[in-house]
Amino acid sequence: MISDNIVIIAKKEIYAVKDINELNILKVKYLGKKGYITKQFLLIKTLKKEEKINKSIILNKQKKKIIKIIKKRQKEIEIEKNKKKLLNQKIDISLPGKYIKIGSEHPIKSTINKIEKFFMKVGFKIVIGQEIEDVYHNFDALNIPKYHPIRTEQDTFWLDKNTLLRTQTSNIQIRIMKKEKPPIRILTSGKVYRNDYDRNHTPMFHQIEGLFIDKKVTFTDLKSILVLFLNFFFGKKCKIRFRPSYFPFTEPSLEVDILNQKKQWIEVLGAGMVHPNVLKNVKINSSKYYGYAFGMGVERLAMLQYNIDDIRLFYENDIRFLKQFKFNNFI
Ligand code: PHE
Repeated sequence: MISDNIVIIAKKEIYAVKDINELNILKVKYLGKKGYITKQFLLIKTLKKEEKINKSIILNKQKKKIIKIIKKRQKEIEIEKNKKKLLNQKIDISLPGKYIKIGSEHPIKSTINKIEKFFMKVGFKIVIGQEIEDVYHNFDALNIPKYHPIRTEQDTFWLDKNTLLRTQTSNIQIRIMKKEKPPIRILTSGKVYRNDYDRNHTPMFHQIEGLFIDKKVTFTDLKSILVLFLNFFFGKKCKIRFRPSYFPFTEPSLEVDILNQKKQWIEVLGAGMVHPNVLKNVKINSSKYYGYAFGMGVERLAMLQYNIDDIRLFYENDIRFLKQFKFNNFI
């Protein structure tokens, strides 16, 4: 009876504690070196032989019971603690979530992709070229005379006497024709730079350049590929106007205008038959080979396609503007 009394008292105390620290104090109180059970064991020495055995059996049982109770309580305290922790972390499912805003393809990039798609289908190879160029590839080899206004500082960004930021993608014509033998059928896109800034011009803009060199390439081929392309890009109903023009590197040359929604003719591209002087500069026999070249402003085409009236909008990075092209999303 006495033996069970101590277990009952211990149990009461153990169940009254609320945390592990308090429980540890009780553990020491009953089972520690100077604890109740240890002290009782020491007292056994003073007892008679028979009593010694009985008492030690009882003490061992008590010890086991108390250990069991402490362990049980320890588990309970831990479970309670975890429950509390989880309650504090409760998720409020009525709160609005944080969502990631997914970007979209820039309208200039998607315009380039659309144009490349057409020309790839009709056999043009996509090539890329450099933006930092020398005078020879940007002007001289393209038959652009020394006195041409585009060579002045007002128009060209010069890096030094002989180096500049290319003013047109036509430099690629020269680089490719020097490297490859006809037939050549390439399309390139990229940034070009001119010292200009207003609602129709930015100092950096994009051009796409096409070049086709072979034995039987005619002006009619050039006109028909341009019509096919513009019908693909703007739809069959778009109004196209061809105008005679001048470029030093093509002869004859033409420009193409598109009728916009305000019924104004807007120039979208320049083109022509590659000038014999240019072919000579890249060592292609101009009595055997002919070719056409064309170049177009990507921003112009994008402005017409999306009905945008200020080119600068493309580069201001205003989210409200860019958001309108979400449908270009390729992700
Ligand atoms: N490079 C010309 C421009 O920047 C466009 C062009 C390219 C014209 C190819 C004829 C042939 O305006």
